[in-house]
Amino acid sequence: MKKKILLGVCGGIAAYKAADIIEGLKKENEIKVVMTNNSAHFITSLTLQTLSGNPVYLDMFTPDRLNQGFTLPKEWEVVHISLAKWAELLLVVPATANIIGKVASGIADDLLSTVIMASTFPVLFAPAMNKNMWKNSILQENIKRLRKTGYYFIEPVKGVLADGETGIGHLAPVEAIIKEVRKRLNEA
Ligand SMILES: Cc1cc2nc3c(=O)[nH]c(=O)nc-3n(C[C@H](O)[C@H](O)[C@H](O)COP(=O)(O)O)c2cc1C
Repeated sequence: MKKKILLGVCGGIAAYKAADIIEGLKKENEIKVVMTNNSAHFITSLTLQTLSGNPVYLDMFTPDRLNQGFTLPKEWEVVHISLAKWAELLLVVPATANIIGKVASGIADDLLSTVIMASTFPVLFAPAMNKNMWKNSILQENIKRLRKTGYYFIEPVKGVLADGETGIGHLAPVEAIIKEVRKRLNEA
């Protein structure tokens, strides 16, 4: 039976890789996407909806933003709770410094951070960012704290970053992310 994966997409340059991750996981899994508002600057909900074959979720409060003009769900449900009940694993790609900081601080001020707050399943973060953001001691403290609490991280790698600099902060290879998701799903 297909496993149920929630894919959280945040506002970073690597957001386009979410499309490849859906492609790599969708044969053996059902995937629903939760986008942050800022991720919509980087990739469209239409792309993620088309590839996943499911509605894309953006907003907790405004039903007509759930589907971006496509068919609305027949029954209104409290979205963050129904998604948290549905999922067996949540993968955040790319995980921004912002979402990591919010979760580490217990902030739930948008749909993705609220679903994470309501989660009882494995949550995996695949961060990607500028090398100095990655080195930032507050971010690193946040990651340490989240790891201790049971969240998983798929570490970024060294590479040429979107800003042209070379350093650690490049999203882990898509294959490595998919491998880690399969491993955690098998453990669950
Ligand atoms: C062009 C551009 C690229 C960005 N890339 C990243 C990134 O790779 N990683 C990151 O953590 N933040 C990046 N940011 C900053 C985030 O978009 C910003 O912190 C935002 O508040 C994140 O919101 P979200 O976590 O709700 O998606 C970028 C911003 C811009 C304008």
